Amino acid sequence: MKTFYITTPIYYVNDIPHIGHAYTTIACDAISRYKRMKGYDVHFLTGTDEHGQKIQAAAEKKGITPQQLVDEIHQNFKELWKVLNISNDDFIRTTEERHIKTVQAMFKKLIDQGDIYKGTYSGYYCVPCETYVPENAMGENKTCPDCGRPLTIMEEESYFFKASKYVPELIKFYEEHLKAIMPKIRYNEIMSFLKSGVHDQSVSRTSLKWGIPVPGDEKHVVYVWFDALINYASAIGYLDDHERFNKWWPNVRHMVGKDIIRFHCVIWPLMLIALGLNIPVEVIAHGWWTYNGEKMSKTKGNVVDPFAMVKEYGLDPFRYFLLREVPFGNDGDFSERALVGRINSDLANDLGNLLNRTLQMIKSYRDGIVPSCDDSSSDLSRLAPEILSRLDECMNDYAFDDALKTIWEFISRSNKFIDETMPWKLAKDENESQKLNHVLLNLYEALRLSAMLIAPFMPDTSEQIFSQLGLKDNPLKCQYDSFKWGDASGNHIGEAKVLFPRIDVTEWQKAYDEKRKEKVKLPEVETKPEITIDEFAKVEMRVARIINVEEIPRSKKLYKLELDLGYEKRTVCSGIKAFFTPEDLNGRLVIVVTNLKPVKLCGVESNGMVLAASVKHDGKAEVLTLLRPADENIPLGSLVS
Ligand code: MSP
Repeated sequence: MKTFYITTPIYYVNDIPHIGHAYTTIACDAISRYKRMKGYDVHFLTGTDEHGQKIQAAAEKKGITPQQLVDEIHQNFKELWKVLNISNDDFIRTTEERHIKTVQAMFKKLIDQGDIYKGTYSGYYCVPCETYVPENAMGENKTCPDCGRPLTIMEEESYFFKASKYVPELIKFYEEHLKAIMPKIRYNEIMSFLKSGVHDQSVSRTSLKWGIPVPGDEKHVVYVWFDALINYASAIGYLDDHERFNKWWPNVRHMVGKDIIRFHCVIWPLMLIALGLNIPVEVIAHGWWTYNGEKMSKTKGNVVDPFAMVKEYGLDPFRYFLLREVPFGNDGDFSERALVGRINSDLANDLGNLLNRTLQMIKSYRDGIVPSCDDSSSDLSRLAPEILSRLDECMNDYAFDDALKTIWEFISRSNKFIDETMPWKLAKDENESQKLNHVLLNLYEALRLSAMLIAPFMPDTSEQIFSQLGLKDNPLKCQYDSFKWGDASGNHIGEAKVLFPRIDVTEWQKAYDEKRKEKVKLPEVETKPEITIDEFAKVEMRVARIINVEEIPRSKKLYKLELDLGYEKRTVCSGIKAFFTPEDLNGRLVIVVTNLKPVKLCGVESNGMVLAASVKHDGKAEVLTLLRPADENIPLGSLVS
């Protein structure tokens, strides 16, 4: 039997689970369920990353030991996976014995063979936070991004992994395996990084206590990433169950966010080469989710809670939305409005209606029994194998959105089949009885197949459809390759129920706005005196794109923004630093007042003002969002009036 081993990253337990975590895990769940239905023997691993500075600091803050913290918090993830109906086969914690022993054994093996050596690590360090800060994460003037205090250069004894030694072998592997990193953009990114040279990696710390002790030199603990990556091997018995390890490892795939590909596509494969193990068959990198166009962050209070989303909109609509809304690999924007739109159109209208109409007709025209006919072939039966093979192509490329589009093409075609064949007309004519049988059997089969097709993405819905169709098997255990069109004659249909109730968008919007009001209290509204349209018309506003963002050394609040107005570029200072990082802003469209008198702010001349909406208390903005045109295609420089 073909094997398929898929892993999620192991999640840090210093944070509560959010939709980013939910997304990776749901994507792995969908591919696991799909591969099982394609006849693969699947092993699906997830877990938690429980060592390191961040966890030690979070425990200290709470006044408990790190072990107590991780024992408590990892439960949130286990609970979420239950709520999200995740079919993982194992859950690994890096504080488990099986993992600790594997890390120590691998570390020792690499020391013994000369691939790990002792040296001196030097880097920028924040003494109060007790952590090293990489150059790309530093605040202005070499300060700590967390506490803002100045960093000092620190040196400590450290073990190093000879990563550089194996780089040529890894480059060669990627040259021969063009799909080992997906999508292409990430493959290219990794190749150019590898070709620019990789330094030996520091893999131990003496400044940290909460970690796995280095075997034979216990004042060192293993660096958290070196420790974490090994989970993929320790969970399947690298150390003491070689048969199990050898069954899964040759077919390992890692699904990760784009932010952690260097660890998975450079460091980890180099470690694997050194250990004499095969490089992962595929690393699949997905993009990042924003919320209503903005980066999620605890300080902004806009982190999307998957528990709340499932409670409000239902599990399968949430799973469907995440996988359908964005091309896998791209960044995506989560908005409840868009989710409601998908529920109404794709789920209630397309899928729900197909089921309802079909069951109603079988009930009224054939007493709830699926009729038989001599030849069950039709446009739908001919389309089915093509859909199955296209679905397979999409799933092999992890193109979940295309996979769902393909399935919906079949559902739409089936709805159209009802309109074309007009069964209500056939039912009125005795002579058309055979034709009606043919139509009803075909619709029933289309639904049976649709339920199987959606099973990896919406397992509960798939089961519900099977039960409404009166089918006794579990669709999640069906095999795509044994599906036979026309097999279902004589079945008694089950009880018809509405799959997805339509959401009244006006009512929903009202409730949504009320909820926002409760979350963010508006201060007493102070209105301004009336102005005439002529007075307003004096203000010139245009669409611009932010093309560069710079810090202003003397200012805590301001960014220096370079704007492209299409017909010219200009500099504007904007007091939005507390709300955005430069990456949030770069490339965004904004609305800018273009005819303001220039002013000098902290030594920089500002030529305009970027418009924002905010909620202010005592003159200080607590929530702030930038205005931007709804249509990204509007030309730069367009007038706003
Ligand atoms: N512990 C490491 C992984 C070690 S794997 C050997 C880690 N953990 S994490 O909890 O911070 O992140 C886990 C995953 O969540 C990453 O793949 C990351 O890309 C993903 N996401 C975190 N925020 C996200 C979004 N806003 N959107 C999509 N995914 C994001 O990194």
